[in-house]
Amino acid sequence: MSQRVKIKQVLHDDAVQYTATVKGWVRTFRSNRFIALNDGSTNNNLQVVVDFENTDPAILKRITTGAAISATGTIVASQGSGQKVELQATSIEILGDSDPEKYPLQPKKHSLEFLREIAHLRFRTNTFGAVFRVRHTLAYAVHKFFNDKGFVYLHTPIITASDAEGAGEMFRVTTFDPQKPPVTEEGKVDWKEDFFGRATNLTVSGQLEGETGAMAFGEIYTFGPTFRAENSNTARHLAEFWMIEPEMAFYNLEDNMNLAEEFIKYVIRYALEHNREDLEFLGARLAEEEKSKPQAERSEMGLIEKLEFVLNNDFMRITYTEAIDILKNSKPNKNKKFQYMVEEWGTDLQSEHERYLVEKHFKKPVILTDYPAAIKSFYMKQNEDGKTVRAMDILFPGIGEIVGGSQREENLDKLVHKMEELGLPVEEMYWYLDTRRFGSAEHSGFGLGFERLVLFVTGMTNIRDVIPFPRTPKNAEF
Ligand code: 4AD
Ligand code: MG
Repeated sequence: MSQRVKIKQVLHDDAVQYTATVKGWVRTFRSNRFIALNDGSTNNNLQVVVDFENTDPAILKRITTGAAISATGTIVASQGSGQKVELQATSIEILGDSDPEKYPLQPKKHSLEFLREIAHLRFRTNTFGAVFRVRHTLAYAVHKFFNDKGFVYLHTPIITASDAEGAGEMFRVTTFDPQKPPVTEEGKVDWKEDFFGRATNLTVSGQLEGETGAMAFGEIYTFGPTFRAENSNTARHLAEFWMIEPEMAFYNLEDNMNLAEEFIKYVIRYALEHNREDLEFLGARLAEEEKSKPQAERSEMGLIEKLEFVLNNDFMRITYTEAIDILKNSKPNKNKKFQYMVEEWGTDLQSEHERYLVEKHFKKPVILTDYPAAIKSFYMKQNEDGKTVRAMDILFPGIGEIVGGSQREENLDKLVHKMEELGLPVEEMYWYLDTRRFGSAEHSGFGLGFERLVLFVTGMTNIRDVIPFPRTPKNAEF
């Protein structure tokens, strides 16, 4: 019996005159002879040539788009122009039929919107094959980067009792029957009766638990799903997304920025080196899409060029206050995308502002630091000026905010004071404050939204197209 080989291997090796078995899904079947077979290892199909004179006609009829088959034969040099090698099949076995009348994927280009509705089948298309192989490579590179630096991968809880960002955008976790939850004498829901004996929710961030780990291991990172019940129906927001959150003892804000920049460049370089073929495919796809846009809106760089540009240039580093000055002095733009240029110090930047800074003004990734305290989270280190905090956001072209981070407030009194000011449950969060009570030290960290990174690297434009099963408002099918 011959060994099963992956199509990527067959095409990569270029070797001929050996017996092989391949298994995969039929993309097309032409002239009762040529099968384009794909097994998910690469976008390049293997041409399987069927010996139709010696193959049962009943089998030939079952070789339809979408069917799973096993083909055994000899790998030979191809006569056709599209490929160097092909499989001259001596036997074809149908593993699973696919009714061509019902199979939703036709051998033609489908819209991304349509494919979103059949997310469970879209992995079988070239675009999503490439996107999710790149996503995999990036995830692997994340672990490799931190592992090689001696960071500990800390698994922080999915179910928590705290709100790490203090923004109240949480999904409640409960075993109560929503029709009749137990109530207290005052008529309120009695959370003491619930599974955990208290109200709990899905985590919005693993940071607070991550900080407790950093104050023991020195350097940790998390990489897991996080959940936000923010009702933002945009191409950049998901209700369930994956976040990477490194947290480092003895790091100040500058160390933090240096690490973030090194990290982002590392994973992009890793994808370029290990997934070139898929990135080239996605680059060609993007170039095709750009053609349908008016000249003025077309991107100046191709995908690979854009990735290489990020690798070869320092990120711009400026303070929030400097950014506001730039925005104030920028002329309102005729281009509608950047029309809200008048900004007041103290307000949060809108995505138009971020895009103006990154895409029009600096034309490269920007790290903004020292934001007004009032628009950032309670745990950030307060600056001497009494107005700003040691925050840093990294803004990327076409994406906006890709990273949010900060140096943390390590002073117990200042932190407690801030929490009281914001009405946060100081007593319940004793465990977090213990990091400041016992052996407190300067420390910093950041969170990178994994899907926003995948968006940037793949050149896709909607975040729903870079996570296998997107969760967005009014959408949790499958
Ligand atoms: O800026 P955020 O809210 O920061 C935190 O959660 C901190 N605890 C991180 C830390 O310092 N350890 O979120 C961090 C990043 C954002 O920059 C963005 O890339 C991504 O997470 N993000 C989202 N991605 C997709 N959908 C959403 N709804 C997102 N919200 C945040
Ligand atoms: Mg943020």
